[in-house]
Amino acid sequence: MKTSIGMTVTEHILEQERENPEATGAFTSLLSELIVVAKIISREVNKAGIADILGYVGRQNVQGEEVHKLDEFANRTIIQRMGHLGQLCTIASEENADLIKIPAKYPKGNYVLICDPLDGSSNLDVNVSIGTIFSIHRKISSDEDCILGDVLQPGYKQVAAGYFIYGSSTMMVFTTGPGHGVHGFTLLPGVGEFLLSHENIRIPERGRIFSVNESYYNYWSENVRRLVDHFKSPDNKPAYTARYIGSLVSDFHRNLLQGGIFMYPSDTKDPRKPHGKLRLMCEANPMAFVVTEAGGYASNGEKPILEIEPEELHQRVPLFIGSKEDVELAEEYLQGKM
Ligand code: AHG
Ligand code: MN
Ligand code: MN
Repeated sequence: MKTSIGMTVTEHILEQERENPEATGAFTSLLSELIVVAKIISREVNKAGIADILGYVGRQNVQGEEVHKLDEFANRTIIQRMGHLGQLCTIASEENADLIKIPAKYPKGNYVLICDPLDGSSNLDVNVSIGTIFSIHRKISSDEDCILGDVLQPGYKQVAAGYFIYGSSTMMVFTTGPGHGVHGFTLLPGVGEFLLSHENIRIPERGRIFSVNESYYNYWSENVRRLVDHFKSPDNKPAYTARYIGSLVSDFHRNLLQGGIFMYPSDTKDPRKPHGKLRLMCEANPMAFVVTEAGGYASNGEKPILEIEPEELHQRVPLFIGSKEDVELAEEYLQGKM
């Protein structure tokens, strides 16, 4: 596929469509509308400090987490715009307990969108980068309306996945799966177009960064503690350094570009979350799809994230993701082999 720095993401998607003989344009329409949604969210994020859109709405979501006004804005924007498109048969959002139905007056399509409308919202009010994570599956049931089985598919079956990061610049990083690579596009302010800025991103085999919230140290298993102690050991040549922003999209994006491992292990701190905090369907799977296509790896400590057969919409998984050698080492520690 001919790509060139500076090409628009729309041209990039159309190029891929032209190369796919069965393409009908539905997927292009879906991704293009998602890009419009991201531009709308990006504008709101960038003016959040001025408009009255910071702070909480005063209720908790299905995850039991405080909902920010921007969480709600992002979720509403995605549901409204993507729901009307005619390319989806349902939407699954981190913010909604159940699948979101496409209103009867709109046509349904053959794709499923799973999203984390705003990731890292705890950082919102302090101007730290946040993002939107998306995962797209093809519908597999014959029902006109989507069923849960259309959504609860293993990660390796995704047809596209990626994220938007609203930071010093707004970027889109995504892949359409094996052989298509991972590409990064930067939103050019004033022009309003995402232009190819990071072509064919490859994550270093071994990183020098480990990212984990060490305040949970006393709630981890012995194997996890020994793993994190390993990353802190002065015996490592070169030594690792610690970086933790507390926003998955930001921690992941930095490690994708520079190399490193992000970890969110199981912990005993909250008995309601024995498998850690991160969600399989809207966080771990899309990020695993991206990192795997970039030459990295994502594991729950025992097996590839992408091979986990989902059981529940909001199920949580331990996540070790990033440079292949670092994640494989994590598996060795988690399995007591080191
Ligand atoms: P979200 O804002 O979508 O709920 O996600 C927040 C997640 C993720 O972005 C980040 O890696 C993690 O929460 C940080 O959790 P801790 O504060 O427990 O470290
Ligand atoms: Mn999140
Ligand atoms: Mn979120």
